[in-house]
Amino acid sequence: MSKIVFSEDLKNYLSRLPDVELDLLLEAYERPLPEAFRINTLKASEEKILERLRSRGYAVEPIPWARHGYIASGGEDLGKSLEHMLGLIYIQGPVSMAPVEVLDPRPGEIILDLCAAPGSKSTQIAQLLRGEGVLVANDVSFERVKALSSNLQRFGVLNCVITLADGRKYSRFAQELFDKVLVDAPCSSLGIVSKSWGIARSWSIGIVKRLSELQRKLILAAFDCLKPGGILVYSTCTLTIEENELVVNWLLESRENARVEEIKLNGLRYRPGITEYEGMRLNDELSKAIRIMPYDNWAEGFYIARIVKEAG
Ligand SMILES: C[S@@+](CC[C@H](N)C(=O)[O-])C[C@H]1O[C@@H](n2cnc3c(N)ncnc32)[C@H](O)[C@@H]1O
Repeated sequence: MSKIVFSEDLKNYLSRLPDVELDLLLEAYERPLPEAFRINTLKASEEKILERLRSRGYAVEPIPWARHGYIASGGEDLGKSLEHMLGLIYIQGPVSMAPVEVLDPRPGEIILDLCAAPGSKSTQIAQLLRGEGVLVANDVSFERVKALSSNLQRFGVLNCVITLADGRKYSRFAQELFDKVLVDAPCSSLGIVSKSWGIARSWSIGIVKRLSELQRKLILAAFDCLKPGGILVYSTCTLTIEENELVVNWLLESRENARVEEIKLNGLRYRPGITEYEGMRLNDELSKAIRIMPYDNWAEGFYIARIVKEAG
């Protein structure tokens, strides 16, 4: 018997969702997430910061799929640590580090993070750019942009422009400008129920449908902002097909030069994207995207697709 209260909509939805082990999902929702962080190599060497953390009683284990990522145990709450306040580390869920690894930012690139606040993935992109190139970090919410700005400053990021705009309209002024774009979309958060059980209580299919409409507009705008040959990563921390496969399927139907690419992430357990849903046959390319269930790694659930904009 789960301690979490599920809305009727969610109970119905989960019973219809393909490829889900319900018992394991409920168990994962009740488990606290592992405490994870990234070392900020923009401020000091990885070894120096690790030494500092160890001397203060933390045990740390590297996260195989994320450069500079670690799981922490022991020590005081990382959120209250001096290392966090000084921006020597960034606290972020282990699976949340995967989308930027899939984007694979390289020094010198021009990268757009379309839905960036509060900045976990923007700070990660900036770190991998190593001060060369430009990051444009955008969000539609003024309140959340304040947090984004303060996190980027705390992390010591210099080569970043912050914009406050509706991502759906971004391609009107930034068409074919970027080498890479990340859309870490607003979503119904079924991959992170263990962080807040309230998500399960207030979840509704109506919200999912509204989000799916928004996500389709965001992914299309993001794709149009890419230079030919550019890479788009679409990610969510949810499990619904409407917010994941159907959004990428929509992009593939709308832009004939969009192709999904294979993803390889060391040590992360995941399953292929779904290509058949309620009698609907989706594009076979979608099997190259990945679904990560909360019980796959006893951490967050995510969906990640890597899409290339073919040139010519
Ligand atoms: C999942 S959160 C992003 C988390 C962020 N990428 C990180 O790693 O810290 C989704 C974000 O999308 C933003 N958002 C919602 N609608 C948007 C829109 N139309 N244009 C741009 N951003 C939007 C929300 O304000 C929210 O900050």
